Amino acid sequence: MNDSVKFWAVVPAAGVGQRMQADRPKQYLDLAGKTVIEQTLERLLQAGLFAGLMVAISGEDPYWPMLPIARDSRILTAPGGTERADSVLSALNRIAPTAVESDWVLVHDAARPCLTISDVHLLIDRLQDDSVGGILALPVHDTLKGVEEGRITATIDRSRIWRALTPQMFRYGALKHALEQAARTGETVTDEASALELQGKKPAIVEGRPDNIKITRPEDLALAQFYLEQQTHE
Ligand code: C5P
Repeated sequence: MNDSVKFWAVVPAAGVGQRMQADRPKQYLDLAGKTVIEQTLERLLQAGLFAGLMVAISGEDPYWPMLPIARDSRILTAPGGTERADSVLSALNRIAPTAVESDWVLVHDAARPCLTISDVHLLIDRLQDDSVGGILALPVHDTLKGVEEGRITATIDRSRIWRALTPQMFRYGALKHALEQAARTGETVTDEASALELQGKKPAIVEGRPDNIKITRPEDLALAQFYLEQQTHE
């Protein structure tokens, strides 16, 4: 690893997670004795390679200040935004005084607590000499169908389809510029790669582990707990 290049971690955690049907945002649900977000942040801190870790938190979030990890001096917070991309941009602005254009930023969902340090290293090893950057992703194994009004209209060539995971790793300057531009033009960006794609860039794909799931529905918590237990035996 080139010692002069810095790596930053950004964790958007300002979503409400409506699909969980829970009494609180999904990042604050219990998972293996801690909250989901604590599991996620501890993984990133354990990697020990970030110059700073920024978490985007909603201004109306009563749960974050109650967590012990909120007082960890290695973590900075930024106000969350309406969409995920707004939250990421807010976190990037928070480090504007210290980050330089060529620094790398790894953006990772708070709702992905099973990330392994080996996948973080894999992403960095593969991409740190890349001109664009890229993302962890998974190939699709199911047959995919295009559907309209409950009827199949097409079978989609799955050899060209990958599922986007996080972390997603891009240069600080390029990512900030791409997100600012998307916000100005009103384009929808559901991940960082799509913001770069709008700039005509082709982010790289690095095959990640299938246990890096995003907590989305209630049953995902039991699956995440299973994966965390499995990982302790590796
Ligand atoms: O809703 P979804 O699962 O796609 O959210 C992915 C991540 O983005 C979550 O960690 C969520 O907290 C975060 N997010 C955010 N600000 C928003 C919406 C989502 O930080 N406005």
